[in-house]
Amino acid sequence: MRRIALIGCGAIAGNHLSALVRLPDVGIVALCDPIRSRAETARDRYAAKAAIYTDYRKMLDEISPDAVHIATPHYLHCEMACEALSRGINVLLEKPICISEEEIERLIAAEKASNGKVCVCFQNRFNPATLAVRELADACGGVRCARASVTWDRGDAYYLADEWRGKKATEGGGVLINQAIHELDLMIGFTGTPVSVSAKTANHAHAGTIDVEDSAELLIRFESGATAFFTATTAFGCDAPNFEELYCQNGRRITLIGQEIYLDGTPYPYDVPDGLSLPGKECWGVGHVRLIRRFYEALDAGTEMPVTLESAAVPLRVLLAAYRSSDRDVTVPLK
Ligand SMILES: NC(=O)c1ccc[n+]([C@@H]2O[C@H](COP(=O)([O-])OP(=O)(O)OC[C@H]3O[C@@H](n4cnc5c(N)ncnc54)[C@H](O)[C@@H]3O)[C@@H](O)[C@H]2O)c1
Repeated sequence: MRRIALIGCGAIAGNHLSALVRLPDVGIVALCDPIRSRAETARDRYAAKAAIYTDYRKMLDEISPDAVHIATPHYLHCEMACEALSRGINVLLEKPICISEEEIERLIAAEKASNGKVCVCFQNRFNPATLAVRELADACGGVRCARASVTWDRGDAYYLADEWRGKKATEGGGVLINQAIHELDLMIGFTGTPVSVSAKTANHAHAGTIDVEDSAELLIRFESGATAFFTATTAFGCDAPNFEELYCQNGRRITLIGQEIYLDGTPYPYDVPDGLSLPGKECWGVGHVRLIRRFYEALDAGTEMPVTLESAAVPLRVLLAAYRSSDRDVTVPLK
């Protein structure tokens, strides 16, 4: 049985823990949060025998788990993943992998130097709708241009509830790095290799509460010659389903609204396997079980991680370049 630990028993931890209790041959052996009561609540709900820690390094040293799930504020991801990797421990890392270019390099080097592997929590890559759109886009000759938008509602109370939110130093940015990174990742996955980005960011509705953007628009150019226009905001009046539209090389148009697919405006049916969805916020998607199951299967088989660090670094590099583009009013090439 694989022995699993989790760091950060906040909002998303329940998705990880309820996925883990559904899987065979894994046991949750330790939980860590500086707010001890959060770790205890998680233990009482998901893992009666788990040890409780408030210091994650102590937990890694004493428990030496086979894998650790990291679900903490963004600024801690790089340091915590590197600490686990330096002990040869496998990591399931929540998005974003980190908050700067320097940290991306540090993480990739740490994984290379370790016997441990990192899988990143881009669970929406495994939504049945995502897989169906990928297949359809390939069958349509690939994407010529794409547009996507994330229009969610996060009021001041959301940002004020947890100290790390809405601050460049601890969240690493605003809507792009937190709420919109999943959709940006999907759009890039459908379209190809990005080569440059021109962007504008703004704080339209949260002045005085956050020091990062609540809204952004990006024009992304791809190696294939494709272009994509991406918009995101947390200043919308509700959490609308994400919207994505792909104009394909063969003239066909694929639309993805939430989990609904349309081909040239007509509903497009696709298979949804049963039993893999989790209750919880709709905007978080339903893919945690699929992703986490694949992570442990890949560890068992010794195969490539379902979401590698390198692939998860791509949307992060695009949005970090978007911040530089907006600050300097230039188009930023991507390496
Ligand atoms: N994949 C998804 O769809 C999805 C959805 C929501 C959140 N997330 C990501 O999950 C992560 C956590 O988000 P959240 O909404 O659960 O935040 P949260 O603030 O609710 O939870 C974070 C937890 O980490 C704990 N923590 C802080 N410092 C720590 C430390 N030094 N050691 C151990 N624990 C520490 C906090 O006390 C808190 O309980 C973020 O990276 C976020 O972007 C991903």
